[in-house]
Amino acid sequence: VTARVALRVNGQRYELDLDTRTTLLDMLREHLRLTGTKKGCDQGQCGACTVIVDGRRINSCLSLAVMHEGADVTTIEGLGTPEKLHPLQAAFVKHDGYQCGYCTPGQICSAVAALDEIRRGVPSHASADLDAQPLLSPAELRERMSGNICRCGAYSNIIEAITEYAG
Ligand code: FES
Repeated sequence: VTARVALRVNGQRYELDLDTRTTLLDMLREHLRLTGTKKGCDQGQCGACTVIVDGRRINSCLSLAVMHEGADVTTIEGLGTPEKLHPLQAAFVKHDGYQCGYCTPGQICSAVAALDEIRRGVPSHASADLDAQPLLSPAELRERMSGNICRCGAYSNIIEAITEYAG
């Protein structure tokens, strides 16, 4: 079954006729050729496919594109470009927040949305358990970033980069 979906991606409006089984991830990569968003597990386990939808981060592999009629989607291409890096991307470069780089777009999208969650006062497990922790503590950031796996193990550098960017 095909359905039409109209949505905005990185500020640009699209209308697409899609098989209703198409995930948001496959729509981005295969229909819009926005291949910055990565497919790792395709099962909601790794976070490589994280994008921001209406201000919230989601695993785009777990979500059907047709569920996002009218949505505003931001991918890594909407945050920074090779010519003009997002300041968080620059912080990842400075702190070596990656090795192979495959998880990095998802890490960056996730961190941008996580910092926004903190600003909006959205609680996490860490903030519930660790009342005394300042909001931008490494423990808090580790908890908020726990859905993004880095097989190279660059976690401590990733947290350093996010901490510096969050200032
Ligand atoms: Fe979506 Fe792994 S590819 S969570």
